[in-house]
Amino acid sequence: MSAILTRLENALCEREQTHSLRRLQLTQGIDFFSNDYLGLATNGALVEPFLQQQYANPLFVGQKHGATGSRLLSGNSAYVLQAEQYLANLFGTENALLFNSGYAANTAVLSAIPQKGDVILYDERSHASLKEGARLSFASRFSFKHNDLQDLEAKLLRHSGKGGEVFVVVETVYSMDGDIAPLPDMVKLCQAHQAHLIVDEAHSTGIWGREGAGLLRDLGLEKEVFAAVYTFGKAIGGHGACVAGADVLVQYLVNFARPFIYTTAMPLQSVAYVLAAFEYLKATPQASGQLFERIHFFREYINTLDIAAHFTESNSPIQMLKVQGGNEAARTLASNLQGKGYNLRAVLSPTVPEGHERIRICLHNFNGLSEIKTLLEEINRAV
Ligand SMILES: Cc1ncc(COP(=O)(O)O)c(C=O)c1O
Repeated sequence: MSAILTRLENALCEREQTHSLRRLQLTQGIDFFSNDYLGLATNGALVEPFLQQQYANPLFVGQKHGATGSRLLSGNSAYVLQAEQYLANLFGTENALLFNSGYAANTAVLSAIPQKGDVILYDERSHASLKEGARLSFASRFSFKHNDLQDLEAKLLRHSGKGGEVFVVVETVYSMDGDIAPLPDMVKLCQAHQAHLIVDEAHSTGIWGREGAGLLRDLGLEKEVFAAVYTFGKAIGGHGACVAGADVLVQYLVNFARPFIYTTAMPLQSVAYVLAAFEYLKATPQASGQLFERIHFFREYINTLDIAAHFTESNSPIQMLKVQGGNEAARTLASNLQGKGYNLRAVLSPTVPEGHERIRICLHNFNGLSEIKTLLEEINRAV
């Protein structure tokens, strides 16, 4: 084997030894695992509106398959521009810009906007794409303690008013803990220190807010933030994302964001699906209502079983069972639960810091209450 392949193999062996080797797996069992919180990805009721978007909209012309180029070249169309205006209206902003994924949108915003001399303050539990974007920018970057307003304020005091712009980066719902950022207080702090708030709504898009418009809109804060990222691969059940904000923000990204400029645009079918999904949510507000009922039931039932202390505090579809004993213990517990027919996964270090290994349970509006009950009873026996 060549030296470079040996080096790769050694890295994999190291992962194997620390029980952190990632493998592509086929999943089965009752879905307590996917980000398809509202079941839209498999919902037959969306097929008709999806086809309607394509065949009844006179702007949906030309493309049968791929977008044929970047948005700045052959990949633009009146349909996409109209879709972006639809999304901007939904999210309550001047404009919106589509990206192929939330990963691309986050790296675009953070790598293109903050400049040398600026400062990025990001929550320590921010998603990899936000950290990656910050790393690609020429600004200085510092983390603050998770959801900790005092630490954020201390860092704002240290870094604002020094000549550069300060950007604060948070998620509405954290993907690894399911907890929610104290957004109203963060908005106030940022305003007090002239900092610009960037909010990732990946795990709240489609669930919170009227018509699935997210938490910022739900709280009436959509005009108070500098940029918001909405993703369509989770509760919306499709893929792609958009950045929503001022028109000048969108025009800037069109000119300077490399993950927007140097890539083939989203195919029109994907855009059509996203619009069909939001139209479906508009007509079906009970979809998220059912999800919140299940979240409520889950939290009540862990209290009844007296196992609430084993879970992190969360009022979102993401529920985390803390596991003592590192990667091996987390993997063993997950695999026992998988063996009993539940599709869920352990979250291991290095994805989370060592000592914070856990089982991630995602709730969906289609999970039966009896399925939730029996899962929790299994967990009760195991812990
Ligand atoms: C908080 C957060 N932001 C962004 C992303 C990336 O979104 P996408 O899957 O659309 O690339 C994810 C996906 O895991 C996420 O959890």
